[in-house]
Amino acid sequence: MGSQSLHITALLSYSTNIREGLFRLIERHIDPGLIPSLPLFGGSKIPYVGLGTFGSDSVPAETVADTVRKAIYAGYRHIDCASVYGNEKQIGDVLAGIFQSGFLRREDLWITSKVWNDMHDRVADSCRQSLRDLQVDYLDLYLVHWPFPNYHPPGCDVTSRSPNAKPYVHENYMNTWRQMETLVQEGLVRHIGTSNMTVPKLKLLLRDAEIKPAFNEMELHPHFQQPELFSFCLENNIHPIAYCPLGSPGRPERDRTPEDTVDLEDEVIKSIAKRLKVSPAQVAIRWAVQRGQIPIPFSVNHYFENLEAAVNVRLTEDDMKKISGIDRNCRLIKGQVFLWKDKQGWEDLWDLNGDVTPG
Ligand SMILES: NC(=O)c1ccc[n+]([C@@H]2O[C@H](COP(=O)([O-])OP(=O)(O)OC[C@H]3O[C@@H](n4cnc5c(N)ncnc54)[C@H](OP(=O)(O)O)[C@@H]3O)[C@@H](O)[C@H]2O)c1
Repeated sequence: MGSQSLHITALLSYSTNIREGLFRLIERHIDPGLIPSLPLFGGSKIPYVGLGTFGSDSVPAETVADTVRKAIYAGYRHIDCASVYGNEKQIGDVLAGIFQSGFLRREDLWITSKVWNDMHDRVADSCRQSLRDLQVDYLDLYLVHWPFPNYHPPGCDVTSRSPNAKPYVHENYMNTWRQMETLVQEGLVRHIGTSNMTVPKLKLLLRDAEIKPAFNEMELHPHFQQPELFSFCLENNIHPIAYCPLGSPGRPERDRTPEDTVDLEDEVIKSIAKRLKVSPAQVAIRWAVQRGQIPIPFSVNHYFENLEAAVNVRLTEDDMKKISGIDRNCRLIKGQVFLWKDKQGWEDLWDLNGDVTPG
């Protein structure tokens, strides 16, 4: 049995190498060493562009995973995952194949995942499941996906509400955060962070955390620049990661309202793109990088173009100034499903009055 199974293992890894080698050959490539990156305390660094993996309920898990494979061969070294995206298993198979082929070592890749709202009391279970699914033994970054524990099923309508929905309760959030801190102490994750937070909530967390959040993943694009939260994060050494960096043109129907504006059709973005002979999306990506936020665009069809933007496009100071002038305060991901009372506006989730909205 010994020599036969060795033979089979060798054959399997041989075929993995051939398969991965073929994928590698057909992929256009940018030297990952050229991607701007942010050095972090402890010696690691995070690349200033990552690949989003939320398929907006329309891109199948296998397609997202295959895109992760192609994106890595194209030069991406940062992947933004989450358990709720329903594709960590498929992405894990791809990562395992790539690591097994010897193309990449685990430490060459930045992997983020997130704990979903129904697991705030069981953070370690959720993290261990993501580790199993992604087939890695640590995460570079683990985020609390939303500060509310209000579960709703993936893909549900914006009118859907969790029957046990609660407002933000800081004591409960700290209970979740303590579990996040333990993950760092146990070596399961290198960094921990938040997502969809506000200044008042972050102030409370910074006051009480033993391990401060290293990152906040937040909606950021030219029409939604969140200047106050963005500056607060930088001042407190919390690095902003920009989701929906292109204004999420493929977002699900439930996340669309008639008031939403379209970043990539903005005349300022289009005129800069025309002058530089690049696409409007490339302007949005490069604006994010130069502003100091880490964009994580999702793309099946344009991932190379987006990586190229982070590396090769240059905006002038005047371009940056013009883009800072087109903020429309247009939040796209409003989060209605997290509301905890009837007849409540989504604004309550975002503490617009400067304090955590009371229950
Ligand atoms: N923390 C959170 O709560 C949270 C919330 C939302 C999103 N996220 C993360 O952020 C990632 C990105 O957000 P997102 O997917 O909503 O928005 P996005 O990255 O702004 O937009 C993605 C859409 O833009 C299209 N696209 C990508 N590159 C393009 C280009 N160069 N030109 C034209 N169209 C382009 C994609 O289509 P193609 O596939 O055809 O290229 C896709 O439909 C997600 O995948 C997820 O990882 C996190």
